[in-house]
Amino acid sequence: MKYIPEPFRIKTVEPIRMTTREYRRRAIEKASYNTFLLRSEDVYIDLLTDSGTSAMSDAQWAALQMGDEAYAGSKNFYDLEETVQEIFGYKYMVPTHQGRAAEHIMSQYLIKKGDYVPGNMYFTTTRLHQELAGGKFVDVIIDEAHDTTNPHPFKGNVDISKMQRLVDEVGVDKISYISYETCVNMAGGQPISMANLRELRKFCDKHGIKIMLDNTRTVENAYFIQKREEGYANKSIREIVKEICSYTDGCTCSSKKDCLVNIGGFLAMNDEEFFVEAKAQVVVYEGLHTYGGMSGRDMAALAQGIRESVETDDYIKYRVELTNYLGELLTEAGVPHVVPHGGHAIFLDAKRFLPHIDQDQFPAQALAAEIYVETGVRAMERGNVSSGRDPETGENRRPKLELVRLTIPRRVYTQAHIDYTAEGIARLYQKRAQIKGLKFVFEPKQLRFFQARFEPTEPVAVPVS
Ligand SMILES: Cc1ncc(COP(=O)(O)O)c(C=O)c1O
Repeated sequence: MKYIPEPFRIKTVEPIRMTTREYRRRAIEKASYNTFLLRSEDVYIDLLTDSGTSAMSDAQWAALQMGDEAYAGSKNFYDLEETVQEIFGYKYMVPTHQGRAAEHIMSQYLIKKGDYVPGNMYFTTTRLHQELAGGKFVDVIIDEAHDTTNPHPFKGNVDISKMQRLVDEVGVDKISYISYETCVNMAGGQPISMANLRELRKFCDKHGIKIMLDNTRTVENAYFIQKREEGYANKSIREIVKEICSYTDGCTCSSKKDCLVNIGGFLAMNDEEFFVEAKAQVVVYEGLHTYGGMSGRDMAALAQGIRESVETDDYIKYRVELTNYLGELLTEAGVPHVVPHGGHAIFLDAKRFLPHIDQDQFPAQALAAEIYVETGVRAMERGNVSSGRDPETGENRRPKLELVRLTIPRRVYTQAHIDYTAEGIARLYQKRAQIKGLKFVFEPKQLRFFQARFEPTEPVAVPVS
């Protein structure tokens, strides 16, 4: 079976509205060709992100009613702390309002000016916080991850020989830690294997390097390990998640993804000194260490969401296979995209979709805009705009991957929504030669993809009908 039926039924609905092509053309012009600047009510199917867009369960909505909004010592904090300890296995936990706040606190504590921070590909906010702390990110992901057609089953893996080279070149004292992400977002949601993580642990033990996990999509990664890696077919998702975390020294987590809530995050670790410092910092930037920027009810929903994400294996199977279903429809239509299909999204390969547009005219940005006009579906650029400028040269980084992300919110859209999306993109692919590039009219200095404004490089950037 290509498609896994939903392991839930729908109890509350939110109407969505289809608009005309002319309306959407005006809307994208007003949004300066940046899908982040569209109004959500002008979007029919919102595949901008899986971040904070999950549908919560009835048990999570019930948990919201149990919020203990005490400024200090909320019972929901202690429940969340126990849940993180039990499911992920770390000794200590500091709540934050979302993932980047945890990244900020961790980077300031672990990175010294002039340090190097290796990672299995960058993530936008993660790298920015590393740079703000004076660090330099070094990509140590396997080469296969940069090739959208390579079928490697674990394209998120670290190339240990690249780690060795970095140690030889700069010395271990200059390496803050390795930033290790599960289901690597910028590579197309590509998983890491347990074998790779075990080997990395051995390498890091030998050199005294910490492994800090980006735990944002570990549950999705556990599903790929269960499905693809020898020896894991009979292990539960819960067991695999715990094993992944056990090889790491701590984590940052954006709870807005796998943890099934609309806001939240945390920083976790096994080192007590780090915990004491993180608690001191969270008070400055987020709030007291027993709420860290979340309300009591947010923490209650988060603890319940974490438990649900690993309670049975049915949920995560349905979630990842729905993403795969979109990928298969696009494969049938011949639309170029990253393979193997990732867990949270299908990533269109804009370099192959629009080979006539130079990377400095932002083909992925232009493609996301035209997908919106064609279908009312909102996607997101993950390429040259997201990657930003090299702080040393000031030039666009022109990353190897120039992608458009079609991100599937959790428990939100049905098979019919996915069919509609794939059909619209297949139609646009037939008219791709009419799509034109873009140029900046406003370029923010940091994380420019969120608020940048563009205009077409030529007067009409439109497949008209
Ligand atoms: C892998 C990864 N790390 C970190 C973050 C940052 O988390 P947040 O958006 O909650 O600040 C994200 C968010 O998209 C992410 O995908």
